[in-house]
Formats: sequence, structure tokens, C-alpha cells
Amino acid sequence: MPSFTSKSLLAVLAGAASVAAHGHVSNIVINGEYYRGFDSSLNYMANPPAVVGWKANNQDNGFVGPDAFSSADIICHKDATNAKGHAVVKAGDKISIQWETWPESHKGPVIDYLANCGTSGCETVDKTSLEFFKIDEVGLVDGQTWGSDQLIANNNSWLVEIPPTIAPGFYVLRHEIIALHSAGQENGAQNYPQCINIQVTGSGTEKPAGVKGTALYKADDAGILVNIYQTLSSYSIPGPALIEGAVSVVQSHSAVTATATAITSLGDAPAATAAPAATTAPAAAPAVTTTAAAAATTKPATTAAAAQPTTSAKSGCQKRRAARRAAALARRHARDVAFLD
Ligand SMILES: *[C@@H]1O[C@H](CO)[C@@H](O)[C@H](O)[C@H]1NC(C)=O
Repeated sequence: MPSFTSKSLLAVLAGAASVAAHGHVSNIVINGEYYRGFDSSLNYMANPPAVVGWKANNQDNGFVGPDAFSSADIICHKDATNAKGHAVVKAGDKISIQWETWPESHKGPVIDYLANCGTSGCETVDKTSLEFFKIDEVGLVDGQTWGSDQLIANNNSWLVEIPPTIAPGFYVLRHEIIALHSAGQENGAQNYPQCINIQVTGSGTEKPAGVKGTALYKADDAGILVNIYQTLSSYSIPGPALIEGAVSVVQSHSAVTATATAITSLGDAPAATAAPAATTAPAAAPAVTTTAAAAATTKPATTAAAAQPTTSAKSGCQKRRAARRAAALARRHARDVAFLD
């Protein structure tokens, strides 16, 4: 193919890669507990289960471009609607965010924000009211390694720490990769935001100010309109400055030890309910206590001891089956990854 310059070949390869499933976070893992995200298969279910990931119209693995930076699509991806449940995480703990896969050509920064949802929680919050503050960012690491390269090397997953100083409450975690392979031309950057609902527990007191999703970026930001095929001595990560108290972590990925169910009630401090339940459960395997604890919190007025029959009647066998299903799902993702690469 003598007429192909290496750059146009690159563009063709990037185009081919974009057909592959790379636009979604399939799950998150918190201290070994697997929470399902809004994976693509949920789009085909009549009554999808409550998950912690926001639904978005990105089955096409599409992105949000700079021409939509002032539209609501930039907040949590195209036509995004609230996740129906949330995960609980203690301030200072880490969340592992698993992407279905990520193409090597789609180089760029990985960024994480939080926005407080108020006392009514994130399941019903109006996304346009959310104000995001930045808790994590990795751009160009050493002149050639990008955040996205670290993510790929980390099994297509990203580890982010919820800063220990953050006040307890309901938050949207806005996790984002910005692919810069075409960003040398106007409107060429590709933002892939993914939103996850969490409840932060702990004793932090900070409530950092944030900015609306539609005010995060501008089309001509130095980190948005940038040619990455030249030697860059530095790269300016777009968006507001990191909050004081943000913690940068070395990437690693967590083994899944249990499957947790998204919590669908605001409850009164689900974490407080979950902890005693777990410790009082008689010598149960971690997978069992976790599932039971998470399920128990959806019934606000009941203690774990007086657990609903439907919850407690779930046999260890059923729970093991659920865990096996999760493992099978995870294996299928691994196969997809291998296939797409
Ligand atoms: C990598 O991620 C896949 C899910 O995409 C998972 O099934 C697999 O166990 C992970 N590998 C490791 C070593 O954690």
C-alpha cells in the first residue's frame, strides 16, 4: 500500500478499533466487591436490574466531542440517565473501574471527578445541577506514556482513591478518558465520560466547590486541541485543578472476592447496617456476607437478624451460583478483549 502514509494508516487502524467495544465501564470493584456497571447487555433487557452505572446512549462506542462540551451530553455521556443504585465506599478507600477494553491508539488522559448529589441521592438528581470537582488525573507521564496506556496495562482498569478528606454523602463519580488520536484538528478530541453512583462514608469534612459538567472544558483548551504526534515536552490536562487532598495512587487491579448488589434505597447509612451484619453473620464466606449485607440495606427498617425471608432464604448455593455467573461474565469480557485486540 505505497500510497498510505503511516499517519493515514494509523487513522484507518484507529477507525477499525473504534468498531470494537471500548466505550463502556462494565463494573467497578471496591475492596474486592464487584458491582455491575451499565454494561451493554442491559440495553437489551426489558427490566434491567439496578446497577451503579449510569445508562447512556453509547452502544455505538461513540464519544462526546468538543462541539458538545456545552451540552448535557458531556456530563455522563450521550442522553445519560441516572443509575438506579449505588455502591458504598469509605473515604480513603479505592475504587477499581473496569472498562470492557481500550484501544491502544486512543491515547490521552484519564480523569476522575466527584459531584455531590445532596440528601436525595444520585438516583434522582438532575444531572445538570451537578458540580464536579477533580480528584484524580493522569495525562502524559514521561513524554510518551499516557494515562490511557497505564489503564490498558492495568487490565483496562483504573484505580482511583476517594480522598480521605471528603465529607460523607451521595456522589456521582465521573470517570473519563479523553482520546486524543485526532485531537490535532478542531473538534477532534473524543471524550468518554462514565458516571457511577456512590455513597461515601467516613469522617471527612471537605465539601469542595465544583463546576457544572457543561463548564468543564472548552474546545480550544490546550489539552483538547493538541497534536500528540509531535514530541510534547508537557501536556496540560484539561478541566479544573485537582482539589487539595486529592490522592494519586499507583495503578493496580483488585481481585474480585464477592459480588455486591447495587443499593437502591437511601436508607440511613447503609454502610453502618452492612458492617454489623457482616461481622455477626456466622462464619459465612465473604461472598455470602457481602451480598446479604447489601441486600439487607435495601430494607431500611429491618435489622440483619430479622432479615426478610426473601433475603435470608437465599441459599449459599444460590449465592455461589450468582458468583459463578459474575465470574463467567468476567471471563467473557476477557475473551472479548482478547478477540478485539
Ligand atoms: C482483567 O479483567 C477482566 C475483565 O475485563 C477479568 O475477567 C480478569 O479477571 C482481569 N484479570 C486480572 C488478572 O485481574
